[in-house]
This record gives sequence, structure tokens and C-alpha cells, in this order.
Amino acid sequence: MTDRQGRTIDYLRIALTDRCNLRCTYCMPEQGIRYVARDELMTYEELLRLVRLLKQHGFTKLRITGGEPFLRKDVMSFLSALREPEYHIPHIRITTNGTLILPRLEELKRLDITHINLSLDSLRPERFADITRRDNYQEVITALHRMLELGFHLKINMVVMADKNADEIADMARLAEEHPLEIRFIEEMPFNGQGQRLPDSPWNHQRILEELRRHFPQLHTLPKGPHATAERYSAPGFRGSLGIIAAWSRTFCGSCNRLRLTPQGVLRTCLYDKGTFNLRDMMRAGATDRQILYAIQQALHNRAPNGFEAEKRSASSQTESMAQIGG
Ligand code: 5AD
Ligand code: SF4
Repeated sequence: MTDRQGRTIDYLRIALTDRCNLRCTYCMPEQGIRYVARDELMTYEELLRLVRLLKQHGFTKLRITGGEPFLRKDVMSFLSALREPEYHIPHIRITTNGTLILPRLEELKRLDITHINLSLDSLRPERFADITRRDNYQEVITALHRMLELGFHLKINMVVMADKNADEIADMARLAEEHPLEIRFIEEMPFNGQGQRLPDSPWNHQRILEELRRHFPQLHTLPKGPHATAERYSAPGFRGSLGIIAAWSRTFCGSCNRLRLTPQGVLRTCLYDKGTFNLRDMMRAGATDRQILYAIQQALHNRAPNGFEAEKRSASSQTESMAQIGG
């Protein structure tokens, strides 16, 4: 499939739930968000139907995210169903906060789901607790090390925040010196579920890069995949790599190949749009496969050329939480 600008669309990000057991300050308010009722979630059958259709239309990559995806009931059966030939999309990746994944790691490997993005914003337990408003630091670190032992391809997402963790950029980067993993420094976006637009973070991608160069003067750039959102770097002696994601500056929209599905089935063609149509409602109203495909193609035809344009067309999306969109 392609969009109006001729960009190939072959990557779907599915937010399985908006629920989360952490309360990261950049994502949710203290009391959490108003969660979607269970019967409003896309069912696994509905999701599988969508995946089958997209597989037939050349999709090559799926990301399972949330909220925290491992909070959704029977998630492992769903992942295992995704590996049946009818639904088989080559690359399945997972984004997780790492608090519940440990007992599932062996099974994930058996399912050939070996690429994990782990959220981790600090290496200091008290800070972790301050940022996430929960005490799960040790579980996350244990899971991180187990994933490395089992040979998972691991990317660590750190949202860089002034006065919270920006002084840990170098310490986090050193994890990639020691271990074969990628640390990804992400610009903070105002999707914090608070209903207010925060001022732009002073820690934009240029400033993060300057900070890295200051600590690692021999930093060099690494080649970047055709649809990658991260600018990638490494330094002499590093086993892993570093990435900077200009999530708010939006420098990568020109090659974006993604579609997103929210927990209640709204299809979004951009993180910054307000959603195109509700696929769950369409399915429940008895739409045929052809009708569904047509609706998706229409949405792609109307897709904004970039995140700034998408934001302009939608007034309200910045009051949302990332957990409602899919992190
Ligand atoms: N800004 C930037 N990234 C965010 N994430 C969640 N909320 C935000 C935000 N406001 C990302 C984090 C986390 C993933 C689930 O979503 O990287 O790891
Ligand atoms: Fe949960 Fe991820 Fe949001 Fe943190 S950022 S509250 S781990 S969904």
C-alpha cells in the first residue's frame, strides 16, 4: 500500500491496551487516565482479521505496544496466533515497560519475537520511582539483563527531560558501551494525558547530540534504515549503539511507513493526527474485507504529508496520553 505522497506503508503498530501499571509523568497523570472499557477494545479476532488483510497487502512489520501490552489478558495466545501462516508477518516487535515480561521471555523467543523496545528513563532507582511513580526498578533491570543473556535485540527508550534525567544521558549511553544494545534518546512530546500543552522541551535532538559529543568526542554516525526514525551513532569501544529520535521535531516524516491502531480500533495514519475512522465499529457493523481495505486506502489517500500538517488538521490530540495512541 502507498499513501498520497507515494510513501510505502508496510508497518502497523497495534496498541493492545491503554492500561499501564506505571505512571510515567510524561505519559499519564498520577491518577491514571480514563481507561477504555474491555468491550470497547479491538478483540483478538478483529485484530487477526486486520493483520490477515494487511499481510495480503504487503505489510512486513508489526509492533505490539500499549499501554503495557503484557497487561492484556491472553496476550501470549494472541502472539502465538500471529505466527500461524494466515497471519504471519515477518517481523513482530514489542514495546514494553519491562515489569511483566520476565516469565514470558523464553516463550517469546520460541515465537521468534526477538526484538524488544524497553522503556527505561533512569538508572537510579529513586529517580526511576520519581519518573514512573512506581517502584519496579529492580524488576525492569532484571528483565533487561535476562533479555541480553537470551540474546534478544534490545533497544532502550529514554525520554529526555530537563530537570529529571537529562544529566544521565552519558550514563545511559555507557550501557551501550558495556552491552550490545541500543540506547535511544527520545525528545519529549506533549502526550501526557494532562489535557495541556507543555512548552517544547529544551532537550531537542540537536542538544542531545551535543551532549553525547561532549562526552564521547569520537562519536560516529551509523547507517540508517530507509524508514528509521532514529539517527544512529556509536563510539570506539562500544558494543552497542546510540540513537536519537526527533519525535517532537519530526525530521523523519518523509519516509514514514507506519499505520497505528489505538486500543479501541481507531486507525491513525500519524502519531499527530486525530484518527481517521473506527475499524472496530466497521467490523462490528458487518463490513466486508473489501470495504475495510477501501476505508484504509481512503485514509492513506488523505494522509498528511508530515506530523506538523497532521497536527494542524487535528485540534485535540495533544491532550492524549501516549498510552491511548500507542507508545
Ligand atoms: N514523549 C516521548 N515519548 C513518549 N513515550 C511515551 N510518552 C511519551 C512522551 N510524552 C514513549 C516512551 C516509552 C514508549 C512507550 O512511548 O519512549 O518508552
Ligand atoms: Fe506505562 Fe509506557 Fe506510559 Fe510509562 S510511558 S506510563 S510505561 S505506557
